[in-house]
Amino acid sequence: MTKLKGKTAVVTGSTSGIGLAYARAFAGAGANVVINGLGAEADIEKARSGLEAEFEVKAVYSPADMTKPAEIAGMIELGETTFGSVDILVNNAGIQFVSPVESFPVEKWDAIIAINLSSAFHAIRAAVPGMKKRGWGRIITTASAHSTVASPFKSAYVAAKHGIAGLTKAVALELAPHRITCNCISPGYVWTSLVEKQIPDTMKSRGMTREQVVNDVLLAAQPTKQFVTVEQVAALALYLCSDDAAQITGSNLSIDGGWTAA
Ligand SMILES: NC(=O)c1ccc[n+]([C@@H]2O[C@H](COP(=O)([O-])OP(=O)(O)OC[C@H]3O[C@@H](n4cnc5c(N)ncnc54)[C@H](O)[C@@H]3O)[C@@H](O)[C@H]2O)c1
Repeated sequence: MTKLKGKTAVVTGSTSGIGLAYARAFAGAGANVVINGLGAEADIEKARSGLEAEFEVKAVYSPADMTKPAEIAGMIELGETTFGSVDILVNNAGIQFVSPVESFPVEKWDAIIAINLSSAFHAIRAAVPGMKKRGWGRIITTASAHSTVASPFKSAYVAAKHGIAGLTKAVALELAPHRITCNCISPGYVWTSLVEKQIPDTMKSRGMTREQVVNDVLLAAQPTKQFVTVEQVAALALYLCSDDAAQITGSNLSIDGGWTAA
């Protein structure tokens, strides 16, 4: 079992979905956590205090907007000043927008590249000096099956996720001598609000029922015909933080029900 007592994990985009599951997994292993993301104040406080109560760790919330480099650096600083270190960084915040490339709104392209790709660079840049000083670190990014394959109408998302896979390899090579690993986790479809939000538009644009969108679009490429769960993704992240995973670096680990094996 992975033990993270005395360590601090920063998880971007952890007010819901996969990010919240990561925060729960790290807290369950004894780490203090910095959560981050958007949402109603009361919901965020419930998530933060819930982590403290359930797992007997400390949790703080950073409101850093992942489109703002200075706020991202401030989030890492919050972890370091509150807990003394940031040992684990999970770049997880992400958004989606679906449109034909010729009518893809420029501001949506810019937002996806900023949140899904550039924010990871800014957070890594801020967290690495402390990790190097302590000679230990784990950097994980939630990429996607779309970091290795593409789907139509998701140009920005696919570009950002392919970019994350490249960033991960470059950073892993640089940090290998410092006992810091850097890996991507690439899920297929995981049932979260990010997926839920795509359903109405797809129903409209393809004239499909909700059930048809789920089975014939979302799960079409996933041979197991099941959604990945947030807990399964979090368990993989927890493993990557263990000593057993010390030699896994620069990898892009699929957890996609066989999607990218095809
Ligand atoms: N759900 C899936 O099927 C799936 C599959 C592959 C990869 N992913 C990736 O997993 C990650 C998490 O997605 P999810 O499915 O849990 O969705 P989600 O919508 O539940 O979570 C996204 C998180 O990012 C946060 N966020 C969005 N914009 C932000 C901003 N500007 N600043 C700070 N935080 C911001 C949200 O508040 C939320 O906490 C994303 O990177 C996504 O691309 C999801």
